[in-house]
Amino acid sequence: MSASTPGTGRWERYAAAAEGLPEYWHPAMRSSKLGRKPRAWRLLGRDLVFVRHAGRAYALEDRCPHRRIPLSAGRCEFPGTITCIYHGWTFDLADGKLVAALTDGPDSPVTGRARVRSYPVEERCGMVWVWMGEGAPVPVEDDIPDELLRSDARIFALYREAEGDWRHAAENGFDESHGKMLHRSSWWVVFRRMAGWNETEIVRGENDRWLSRYQHSVHEDDDYPGLGRWPRFNFWQRRQKKVAQGSNEHAVSIRLPANLRVRQPGRSNWTHYEWYTPIERGRYHYLVFAVAWTNGWRRVLWWLRYWTYILWVHHYDFNNQDLSVVPLMGDSHPAPHFRPDVSIEAWRRMVEDEARQPAPRAAAE
Ligand code: FES
Ligand SMILES: [Fe+2]
Repeated sequence: MSASTPGTGRWERYAAAAEGLPEYWHPAMRSSKLGRKPRAWRLLGRDLVFVRHAGRAYALEDRCPHRRIPLSAGRCEFPGTITCIYHGWTFDLADGKLVAALTDGPDSPVTGRARVRSYPVEERCGMVWVWMGEGAPVPVEDDIPDELLRSDARIFALYREAEGDWRHAAENGFDESHGKMLHRSSWWVVFRRMAGWNETEIVRGENDRWLSRYQHSVHEDDDYPGLGRWPRFNFWQRRQKKVAQGSNEHAVSIRLPANLRVRQPGRSNWTHYEWYTPIERGRYHYLVFAVAWTNGWRRVLWWLRYWTYILWVHHYDFNNQDLSVVPLMGDSHPAPHFRPDVSIEAWRRMVEDEARQPAPRAAAE
């Protein structure tokens, strides 16, 4: 990704963030996928090992300091520890300290003289979250939208590995106009008239972590000089409900480190979320949530709706289109000004100006 738009060095921090924004809690994996067997997991260009002990999730650097063998190949010989498979160096899961070197006897002088980095871990919303920063972790709730922490939030999650730059994935998520072209062939619009274009407003409320975009002057179809009318609809496609000016319906929002939220008319009783968490340069974890806030028997309806419709139409067919373009995207700046790109510029500006910065090295643990 180039360092500027157009050519002024304005996006230096953004350009340097090829492997993500470390000073945040990142969703690592689904809680249900983590048990007593150590799991290797790469995030933000680093190798981690996750393991569960006594119901708690832990994460350590996945590299034994002795001969660099991954600890994820090892096992838990004693409660609360992980033992390297090669010579038996044994590390405390809580703080990564070497508590024994089994094949050098109980009095091994190396005991207590080595450690691996341990990463703070929390579990919320059915996910394992890991703090990747150098600084002291903020409360995990700071990095998760409040509404997802409500007790009536019913969340269905899909966690996938994808090719491409996480920044391109985030830009695609917050990009206004690709939906009106790329997603025109998705199953989701088989019975809907998707508008051809609109004016975009970018809004940032005071003390609001979300950057939002709203659609104004929505043009269902239009005449293009010398070309004709576009888009063309089929008779079975129905008109979309008009969105009132100032309504928060149809808002698409994004917040740091890379979390998208999509509300739309017609599905206002559920909301779509996405996270783009880099694995390393050029690959990322793509996490999507479908969320409804409901209790009692309506939970069953929501369950049915997800498994019979949303999973296939949104989480696979629709989102597969996004996954297919992200790795194809080049950095096209400087390019002629295209009005909908105002959303991308605003998102880049938010990363550039507001992303938490690494603490000075001395402050690290
Ligand atoms: S490489 Fe891990 S104990 Fe030797
Ligand atoms: Fe999309």
